Parts: sequence; C-alpha cells; structure tokens
Amino acid sequence: MAQIGVDIGRAEEILRQGGLVAIPTETVYGLAGNALKESSVSKIFKAKNRPSFDPLIVHTNSLHKVESFVRYIPDQAIQLAKQFWPGPLTLLLQKKSIVPDLVTSGLDSVAVRIPNHELTLSLLAQLEFPLAAPSANPFGYVSPTTAEHVEAQLGHTVDYILDGGACRVGVESTIVSFLEEKPKVLRLGGLAVEQIEEVIGSVRVNKHSSSSPQAPGMLKSHYAPGKSIVWIDGFNWKAANDFSQIGAIVFQHPLEELPLENQFVLSAKGDLEEAARNLFTALRTMDKNNHIALILTQRVPDVGLGRAINDRLKRATAK
Ligand code: TXA
Ligand code: MG
Repeated sequence: MAQIGVDIGRAEEILRQGGLVAIPTETVYGLAGNALKESSVSKIFKAKNRPSFDPLIVHTNSLHKVESFVRYIPDQAIQLAKQFWPGPLTLLLQKKSIVPDLVTSGLDSVAVRIPNHELTLSLLAQLEFPLAAPSANPFGYVSPTTAEHVEAQLGHTVDYILDGGACRVGVESTIVSFLEEKPKVLRLGGLAVEQIEEVIGSVRVNKHSSSSPQAPGMLKSHYAPGKSIVWIDGFNWKAANDFSQIGAIVFQHPLEELPLENQFVLSAKGDLEEAARNLFTALRTMDKNNHIALILTQRVPDVGLGRAINDRLKRATAK
C-alpha cells in the first residue's frame, strides 16, 4: 500500500522519477504525474482505469508558468485567474505543443488550474513541470475528499499520498471554456457561476449530456456510487414495507419515516458550502453501509454551490 504523509520532498522525488502522487487540493484529491512526460501520464490513465478520450487537467502554481503551455489567454480569462486563482476554477485554453496529446486526448485545448492548497502549492513551486491530475478515484466513482478515500481505492497504484486533510470545498473545480468567442461553463463546480458573472458578466452554462464531446468526462453516471440512488419525489418509496434498507441523503432535515442512522444530513443549518463539502462523504457513507440497499436523495436550492451539488446528485441518480 502507498505511504501517506506530508513529506513534500518525497512527493517531489517520486514525481521527478516519473511516479504518481496523490495530491490534496481544496476541491478533491488529484492523482498527479508529470504532465509533460508521456509515460507518467499514461500511468495515470492506467491507475484510474480511465478511457484515453477523457482529457486531464494540468495543475501549476503561477500564471507565468501557465503562459508556457497555452497559446494565449483572453482578457476575461486573465480577469478570472487574477480573481480566483489559486482556487476552484479551471480554464480551458488553446494548448502549446509542449503539452502531450495524451494529456488532452488529442484535443487542441488544455484545461489548466492553480489549486488552492498549501502543501500542493509548495510542491508545485519546487517543480519546473506542471502536474496532470484527474480526481484520484477509479473511473466512474465518487471523487475522494480525504487521503483515506484515496488510500481505500487507489492505495495499490499510487506511489505516495500527500495528506492535506479533508478538502475545504469538496466538489470539483468549475470549468470555464475560452475556446469560443464567449466564455462557457462546461462543468459546474466549486466556484459559483454567480461569482464568475460578477467579474466577467453573464456566461453560458453547458447543458451536460452523457456523450458531449466538449466535456468528455461528463458522463451521466460519473458520480454514481455502487447502489441505486433515486430522487425522493420521483419514486414511491413510502410503499416499501421495510424502511430499514432505505437510506437518504437530505439537505437540512432528516425524513421522519426512516431510521436516523440511515440518513446523512448535508447541512443542518442549510449552508450550501457545508453541503458541498459533505456531499462525496455522504455518497461514500451510504455506499459502505451494508444495511442500505437503496438511497433516496433530494435537490438542494439551485443557487451558488447548490447548482454543482444538484449536478452531481443528478449524475449519481442517472445510473
Ligand atoms: O477540482 C478538480 O478539477 C479536480 C482536482 C484534482 O483539480 N480535478 C478533476 O479532474 O476533477 P477530472 O479529471 O476528474 O475532471 C476533469 C474534467 C473532465 O471532465 C475532462 O473531460 C475535462 O475536465 N477536461 C479536461 N481537459 C479538457 C479539454 N481539453 N476539453 C474539454 N474538457 C476537458
Ligand atoms: Mg473526476
């Protein structure tokens, strides 16, 4: 099993040798390798069992370094970067040829991000190459928000896990494409659309589909745990004669009908940021509970981070 620790020097050495290190970020843990080295990138795809048509995000620690691997950064993208980096924002830009095709699945564009986590920023500052890092989960499963989540699922394939504690945001970054004339949100995430719009004005939000080639990773069931998960209001669960096998992920208030121990409250005080932080742990907790065969869930208010939460829940129910 991979060692878990806070040894940045060790992480650096492994990455320099072409190995893989799980890195903490404010959104979710990433499975990182040298983005400019094909053999490392191909190890990432293998470790995750990720199809090669699903491109990776490239992580670095300064706008200056970003300039070395993208062709050009439009003004509005610079405005967002200055306002929100380091932070839960990924920009989709035209790539330079230094970025291997393997990273971008042959596309001309590259997704880049400066994550906001002290340990990972120190690590990135030591490296002259950027890190390609998808979320550190097996393909199709829930993203990890603690080092233990990573260990449980990829402990045998990653060389080291840099332990930065629980992720503060808890859902993946918001992806904004600058490939067309107008910016477009390709993935709802940890940076609210409202915040983006405060800086650059109104943006379009991609209507995700299961086979959209623009965001190849946005498969419908991307966040699905191993069990059936259904919307509370779309399923006649009250007709069940045994509630002991039904679990629920609820926003603020537990359901009266179900045993309390079968339920996960995302935020008792109704805070969407807290709910986002708890979301993936909630899915994992339900998945691990052997008594539970079916998971009910409900939509949260569709504003701010609530939009990303509803998006992930929708994917989870789409299995
Ligand atoms: O918060 C995050 O973004 C985390 C942390 C580790 O940084 N990373 C993450 O990576 O969520 P991943 O691989 O799980 O999701 C990346 C998404 C995928 O849906 C992929 O299709 C999309 O970004 N993507 C990457 N490069 C792209 C490109 N050139 N064009 C379109 N979509 C791209
Ligand atoms: Mg992922």
